[in-house]
Amino acid sequence: MNVENCCIVIFGASGDLTFRKLIPALYNLHKVGRLGEHFSVLGVARTEFSDEQFREKMRDALIKFENASGETLDEFCSHLYYQAVNTSDALDYVKLLPRLDNLHDKYGSAGNTLYYLSTPPSLYGVIPECLAAHGLTTEEFGWKRIIVEKPFGYDIQTAKALDVQIHRFFEEHQIYRIDHYLGKETVQNLLVLRFSNGLFEPLWNRNYIDYVEITGAESIGVEERGGYYDGSGAMRDMFQNHLLQVLAMIAMEPPAIINADAMRDEVAKVLYCLHPLSDEDLKNNLVLGQYTATEIDGEMVKGYLEEKGVPEDSNTETFMALKCEIDNWRWAGVPFYVRTGKRLPTRVTEVVIHFKTTPHPVFSQNAPENKLIIRVQPDEGISMRFGLKKPGAGFEAKEVSMDFRYADLASPSLLTAYERLLLDAMKGDATLFARTDAVHACWKFVQPILDYKAQNGRVYEYEAGAWGPKEADKLIAKHGRVWRKPSGMMKKKV
Ligand code: BG6
Repeated sequence: MNVENCCIVIFGASGDLTFRKLIPALYNLHKVGRLGEHFSVLGVARTEFSDEQFREKMRDALIKFENASGETLDEFCSHLYYQAVNTSDALDYVKLLPRLDNLHDKYGSAGNTLYYLSTPPSLYGVIPECLAAHGLTTEEFGWKRIIVEKPFGYDIQTAKALDVQIHRFFEEHQIYRIDHYLGKETVQNLLVLRFSNGLFEPLWNRNYIDYVEITGAESIGVEERGGYYDGSGAMRDMFQNHLLQVLAMIAMEPPAIINADAMRDEVAKVLYCLHPLSDEDLKNNLVLGQYTATEIDGEMVKGYLEEKGVPEDSNTETFMALKCEIDNWRWAGVPFYVRTGKRLPTRVTEVVIHFKTTPHPVFSQNAPENKLIIRVQPDEGISMRFGLKKPGAGFEAKEVSMDFRYADLASPSLLTAYERLLLDAMKGDATLFARTDAVHACWKFVQPILDYKAQNGRVYEYEAGAWGPKEADKLIAKHGRVWRKPSGMMKKKV
């Protein structure tokens, strides 16, 4: 599929995401010739900028974040335009009509328009309505698509309400809900690993898998985003979307073919099979934590309550660990232990598939278990761990590993998540975007956790730089297991 000529309209163009992620992604796509010559980008926000001022601001960002320079940079910036609009006032959107007409004429983009909502979520319902008031959502003259950033709602009620609002003006095929984890090469690779090899899939079920660990750890704290994060917490910020999507990739059934409908049918199906959590389940299988100040490498690191924008009595979780189960034939009885947190010892996202041990231990009582470690980031790769004979007398088994590193591929020209997803949306390929039923299934699963937390949820303290509160270790130890403590296992050995 090729990219058709189009105009990309970014709402929230004066914000952080635009100059840190969106403009750099578009620049890189342009640099490698993936956008063609006939695209334009119209930034929209309340702040008054001229086209020139907007270009300068974006140029600075590209120099800073992408080391951009020379003709390619000038050429790219010449495609950037800006229009100030009061985004909550429908009448003001009239200013977009002549701008868009001119850009479509100039670039031959025949009305094709990709709207990107990179605004505060309170505007997600408003902008579609205001666009529709001026006929800017109909597909009579070119396609119209809308990319919506997370969060898609704050809980199940608001998520449903938002869906209704957007669907009043856009049809499902026009809506692209972005979850940048689905744009990560290594997350997509989970599917290829599973469904293009005869080796793994026969073992990929309750008969051979003992349990699965999914970790999304970050070493940074909430940084400048305390205000946003405090209303969100680890549950809404990482678990409800990114980690449940990763879980779906691990657990879904193979789609009959790879296209947006077939893939997303399977994703939604497995998410609807998540075992609903009762208060009793949550009492036993959920641990929430919040980081406290400590000294790391001689430097004092702030606790969550000292972060900018965070109320001093906040009960928001910056860590969560949860045991979930999937009620279907493939996974019945296999626990999925999922954890995520800020200010953990390292930044790592990984999945560990723990296989069952042999039925009878011939060589030693402590034979290493077989596991497949899928490192999503950083040092992307896959490591297979199994037991081999320890050299010397006797028959003692020791753990060895077979490792694959993405960095070893001859031309690892990976697109970043935003590059891949923007490109897909321009091509009209929604395979890697969350469909409404999957989003609903995630909220349906998460809502009881939010309710439980609101009523009884204790948030334990953990020191910044630790793997969460010790209660998280107890959660998994109850079942005779320990969390893997990931380190730089995939680093190239020199
Ligand atoms: C974002 C969250 O969606 O994902 C952030 O809002 C988090 O809090 C980020 O840091 C993690 O993304 P990545 O790609 O760095 O793992």
